[in-house]
Amino acid sequence: MDVLIVGGGGREHTLVWKLAQSPEIHKIYCAPGNAGIASLAECVPIDASDVSALQQFARDRGIHLTVVGPEAPLMEGIVDLFQENGQLIFGPPRSGALLEGSKVWAKQFMSRHQVPTAKFEVFDTPEEAYAYLRETSFPTVVKADGLAAGKGVIIAENFEEAARAVQQIMEAKVFGAAGNRIVIEEFLQGEEVSVFALTDGASYVTLPSAQDHKAIYDGDRGPNTGGMGAYSPAPILSKKYQEDVERFILEPVFQGLAAEGIPYRGVLFVGLIMTQQGIKVLEFNVRFGDPEAQVILPRMKSDLLPLLYEGARGNFRVIEPPEWHENYSVCVVMASEGYPGAYEKGKVITGLAEAAGMDQAVVFHAGTALQDNQIVTAGGRVLGLTAWDHSLEAAVEKAYELSGLIHFEGAYYRRDIARRALKNP
Ligand code: AMP
Ligand code: GLY
Repeated sequence: MDVLIVGGGGREHTLVWKLAQSPEIHKIYCAPGNAGIASLAECVPIDASDVSALQQFARDRGIHLTVVGPEAPLMEGIVDLFQENGQLIFGPPRSGALLEGSKVWAKQFMSRHQVPTAKFEVFDTPEEAYAYLRETSFPTVVKADGLAAGKGVIIAENFEEAARAVQQIMEAKVFGAAGNRIVIEEFLQGEEVSVFALTDGASYVTLPSAQDHKAIYDGDRGPNTGGMGAYSPAPILSKKYQEDVERFILEPVFQGLAAEGIPYRGVLFVGLIMTQQGIKVLEFNVRFGDPEAQVILPRMKSDLLPLLYEGARGNFRVIEPPEWHENYSVCVVMASEGYPGAYEKGKVITGLAEAAGMDQAVVFHAGTALQDNQIVTAGGRVLGLTAWDHSLEAAVEKAYELSGLIHFEGAYYRRDIARRALKNP
């Protein structure tokens, strides 16, 4: 089978790496890919958001299955476009991508289907939002409706901070049209954990849990990033909680999508928070997490390809549930100095060959490029140092061993990935 992966980050390298192990794979293409992906797939210089160029490429090359990594093309309607042309693609249509693309829509969807989430109000004008903020209690959470590259959520400690957030989002339009509407919601307290499910539109399979580290600095301090590291499974999600997630969250969400006539075939990524009042949904994403994919997919014992292929065909009934390794995995993200702010590119990366010699470990490339026969940095998040082992301690140790082998000027990574889980097993 010839497969096209859309995207070019660490998540896509992980998808390519896992699919390359499938006996059914003939050739993998990746658009646009990166220097690490180039060793396993043919990289195609098409932007991940150029959905019509992707559709034409897939048609011309006779691609059997396209798999979408990031959210932007899903919101652009890449799945709808491929399906209109009779081309197989794994991902939700635009109507389903709204679970991530519109926080207003997602919150209202959860209300319609009794999915537990923070209490909320929706505002179309700044005046109404300011009036509400004068009455409410703090902290409170202000969220831009649309996609805002992970920056559209502000936790406000007082009226001034909340009002500034409303002013920035709705009046200064710092996120453009994504700020035409906002959600203001109840602040929830608790440990966060992510759960992933794959669905063919009729049934679903749940993947192991994972925990991300969003803040740039150790101890969860500093600005949020795309994710600085992850581990799987998340020991905090005990069996009892897993049952609650199925019963109170995944089942009503998938039933709700079906009841509303949304043919959702793809990944659902649920950001959860474990509060005193039970488990609640913070947000949905309609794709694999990055770097969560880097820790979940290496733990999959079975072949990923049949799940994606039959998922895209709405045909899960012919597949066996996936099998998993009973191990722990950890990913430490190596980033460019300055990220998530401005950073330099083009720094030569050394030590990748040494790292490749390590067992049960792999360095996934995120922002890398090939320049004059050398691999150089080309993004904020550069590499995902990933390792797995029989215990979380051993996996953490191995991931950090990789950090001793790999160097580039200005390399920065958190030193405390998974430390919290090691403290409270
Ligand atoms: P979201 O993009 O909605 O997941 O928000 C990003 C981050 O903001 C989450 O991972 C949480 O850390 C935080 N957050 C979002 N909503 C809430 C809430 N209602 N209460 C507390 N923290 C929140
Ligand atoms: N790591 C969080 C995300 O992929 O959205």
